[in-house]
Amino acid sequence: MLKKISIHELAVGMHVHAVCGAWFDNPYWRNAFFLKDEADIARLRGGRVRQLWIDTSKGIGLSTQTVTPFRTVPANDAHFAATAQRPAPSLQPASTTHELANAAAIIAASAGTLSGMFADVRLGRQLDAQAVLALVDSIHASVVRHGSALASLARLRKADNDCQLHGVAVCAMMIGLPRQLGLEESEARLCGVAGLLHDIGKTAVDANAPFPGSPGDARQYGRATEHAMASRQILLQAGIDHPVILDICLNHHERIDGTGYAHGLRGEAVSLHARMAAICDVYDGMTSEGHGRQVWNPAAALKKIAEWTRSGQLDVTIFSAFVRCTGIYPLGTLVRMRSGHLAVVTDSESCLYAPVVRAFFCIASRRHIPPFSIDLYESRDNGIASHEDAATWGLGELGHLWT
Ligand SMILES: [Fe+2]
Repeated sequence: MLKKISIHELAVGMHVHAVCGAWFDNPYWRNAFFLKDEADIARLRGGRVRQLWIDTSKGIGLSTQTVTPFRTVPANDAHFAATAQRPAPSLQPASTTHELANAAAIIAASAGTLSGMFADVRLGRQLDAQAVLALVDSIHASVVRHGSALASLARLRKADNDCQLHGVAVCAMMIGLPRQLGLEESEARLCGVAGLLHDIGKTAVDANAPFPGSPGDARQYGRATEHAMASRQILLQAGIDHPVILDICLNHHERIDGTGYAHGLRGEAVSLHARMAAICDVYDGMTSEGHGRQVWNPAAALKKIAEWTRSGQLDVTIFSAFVRCTGIYPLGTLVRMRSGHLAVVTDSESCLYAPVVRAFFCIASRRHIPPFSIDLYESRDNGIASHEDAATWGLGELGHLWT
């Protein structure tokens, strides 16, 4: 049985199933491991991890519990057995493979619901606030189970679905990022609502908003600036008036150095929430297909955003937390291996700096090969040499290799 505990409750003999949030701060650990001595515990407590999941079927539980390696239930009571062994709802960490399947269903449902909402707004009807909250609930549960699966999968959308599924991706990231920063769950949900709807004003101004570095012309840029104000207005009309949500919708294109819009805010005038939204918004915009914009490799996008933090546009501390959410090598990143293969990152949850990849292309022969997986944590003779651009190699969409 999985149980969430505080770092202070750790004991020798526990089996750690997962740590909460901060692998970046503890790069020497695998995601699941057995605590064999006090030194293991001391190393964990020396990092920034504050909560962990332990698996009491593989190790001991808390000292106040009766420790049984396997839960015993009446063999003739199937219902009781299922109930007793069912993990806590919506809080159980999920594998990447499992959560990608959940995420696909959530995205399919969200696309339909959001298309209807956006159509309603275009026709002058009021936004359905209850439907919004139901969507955020399902996205929130996915992010709690797995920090990056849903946003990664939503990146694979086609340009036709861009407006709606950009909202889904930003919603997921805007739930994950506050959790990574240690904010309250209720605040994360508010940020999620704002992430889902931050661009709904585009239904009013029909603008494909450019993002920093894009070649959007001045006239398009001028129209785009109106959508943030329109988003705020649409939410107010629907009775969604929480200041955090309105702030994010209005100010997600503001930049700390004053170069953003809609009002050219500068420095402290750009709130924590708006700074978070700016990073989530720009990352998803760069790494997904949209009308007339370049698609960036996720790792290359992180590198570019890091430059914008150094130039003072975006918040460096929030960006560091964002990287802890997405991983140094986010799902779907194309990489060149030291072995001479191209590969795609298929799982970066278990170890931040050594993900699992799927090799599929031989660089020497420039030919596709039967794909095979490599766990880089286990592979001492191999590693990532660089990240690569799929377009440079004439490769199309690679989503089939990691979804
Ligand atoms: Fe926007």
